[in-house]
Amino acid sequence: ILSSRVQPDPSGSETCVCLQVEKHLEPFRLSLEKLQDVSARLRKDMLRGLGKHAHHRAAVKMLPTFVRATPDGTEKGDFLALDLGGTNFRVLHVRVLEEEQRVLKMDSQICAIPQEIMLGTGEKLFDHIAACLAEFLDSQKLRGQTLPLGFTFSFPCEQKEIDKSILIRWTKGFNCSGVEGEDVVRLLKEAIHRRGDYDIGSVAMVNDTVGTMMSCGYRDQSCEIGMIIGTGTNACYMEEMKNVKRVEGEDGRMCINTEWGGFGDDGSLKDILTEFDEEVDKTSINPGVHTFEKMISGMYLGEIVRLVLLKLTEEKLLFKGCPSEALLTPGSFETKFISEIEDGLENAKKILTKLALDWDLVDACVARLVCDTVSSRSARLCAAALATIANRIRTNRGLDHLKTTVGVDGTVYRKHPNFSDELQAAVRLLAPKCDVSFLISEDGSGKGAAMVTAVAQRLALHCMLNFL
Ligand code: GLC
Repeated sequence: ILSSRVQPDPSGSETCVCLQVEKHLEPFRLSLEKLQDVSARLRKDMLRGLGKHAHHRAAVKMLPTFVRATPDGTEKGDFLALDLGGTNFRVLHVRVLEEEQRVLKMDSQICAIPQEIMLGTGEKLFDHIAACLAEFLDSQKLRGQTLPLGFTFSFPCEQKEIDKSILIRWTKGFNCSGVEGEDVVRLLKEAIHRRGDYDIGSVAMVNDTVGTMMSCGYRDQSCEIGMIIGTGTNACYMEEMKNVKRVEGEDGRMCINTEWGGFGDDGSLKDILTEFDEEVDKTSINPGVHTFEKMISGMYLGEIVRLVLLKLTEEKLLFKGCPSEALLTPGSFETKFISEIEDGLENAKKILTKLALDWDLVDACVARLVCDTVSSRSARLCAAALATIANRIRTNRGLDHLKTTVGVDGTVYRKHPNFSDELQAAVRLLAPKCDVSFLISEDGSGKGAAMVTAVAQRLALHCMLNFL
C-alpha cells in the first residue's frame, strides 16, 4: 500500500512515499551492533554507580535497597501497603499465607492524586496520603491495629536503611516542594502524627521494581531481577555484597535499584538520540533528566509518535499536509493509541478520525509504521539494558550459563501487542549465554511491598534467634 503513493521529494524528482518516510524513521532503527554497544556503555555506567566515590557523578545511580534476600516461602502475616508512583495512589491490605505460598490482596483502595498536589508542597502530598490511609483503615475496620507497612515509592531514593530513604529527585511528572533531599519515611510518619488519630507499625521502603521482583519471588525463587516498563522504566537485581562498595559487609547479596532511566544523562547516548527525543526532553518538566526513560516509557512514547507524525505532515508526506488542532497539541497522542494502532488497521483509522485528521489508507499505514518503529526501539533498548544485567549476574557468579527469571510489570509491557515478544527476542541475541524467563507480576507494588516487609521481619527474627 505504501509504495503505491509517489510524491515529489525535496530535489523535485518523484519518489515513493515510503522512502521519504523511511528517511525520518531510520534514526530510530538500532542495529544489533549498536545495541551491543549501548549494553557495553551501560555495563561501565553500572560499575561507576556501584563505586564508593564515583557514584556521586554516575548517571545510573545503582542504589542499594537494603533488601538482602528474596522470599524463601516461609513468610506470613498481615500487612499494609502503600503504592505511590504513577497518577494514582493505592492503599492495600495484604495477607501472606505460608501454607499455600500465596500473597492475597484482602482489599485495596485507589485515591487520585490531583495535578495541584503533584506539583504542590510535600506537606500537602503526605497529608493527602495519610488521609487516604485513614479512610482505608476505617473502611477495613483496621484502625487500632498497628500493622507493618510496605511503602512502594517509585522514585529514585538514596536508601540508608530499609526504613530510611532520601528522595534524590522527582520523576514522571511529580514536583512537590520540600521533599527532594528528605527522608520520605519521616515525612509520612510526620503526616500521620499531625493527624494523631492512628498509628502504623514498622515501615519498609520499596521501589516498584523491587516489589515486582519480590512478588514474583514468592512463586519462583529464581526470580532475581525486577523490571518495570510503564509510565517510567527501571530495573533492580540481586548484586553480590562485595561489589556494593557503599554498604558495609562482603557477604551475601543485596538488591540494587539501578535507576536505569537516568542512563544517558551525562550525554553518553547522544549518538542515538533523535531530534524528536531532544524535543520531548526540552518540553518536559525535567530537561536533561532520565534520558533513557524518555526514549522508552509510556509517559513519553505517545509524544514521540505525535512529533514524528507532525514532522511527516509538515513535509507533506501525511494527511495532505494538514495537521489537525489535536495533532498540534502536546500530549494529545496517548501512548495507549500506539498499542491500539499496532493491533489493527481498523483501530488506526478510528484513532486518526478521533484526532480529526483527514486521512486515507496510505496515511493509516504510515501512522502504523511510525508507531511500530517507535515501540520497537523502546523494546530493543530495554532488551539491551536487561541483557546487561543478566550478563552481569552470570559473570558475577562465574557461570558459563545462567538461568534466571525476571519479574515484570508496567502498562507498556502488558498492553502492547508485540512489545514483550520483541524484547525477549532481542534479549536472546544480546545475552546468548543466559536463559531468561519472564513472569508478569501480579500487583508487585502492592503485594511485593508486603513481601519485602515480610522478608525483613523473617531476617530480623532469624538474626535475633542467632543472637539468643
Ligand atoms: C522512574 C523512577 C523509578 C521507577 C520507574 C518505574 O524511572 O525514577 O524509581 O522505578 O520510574 O516506575
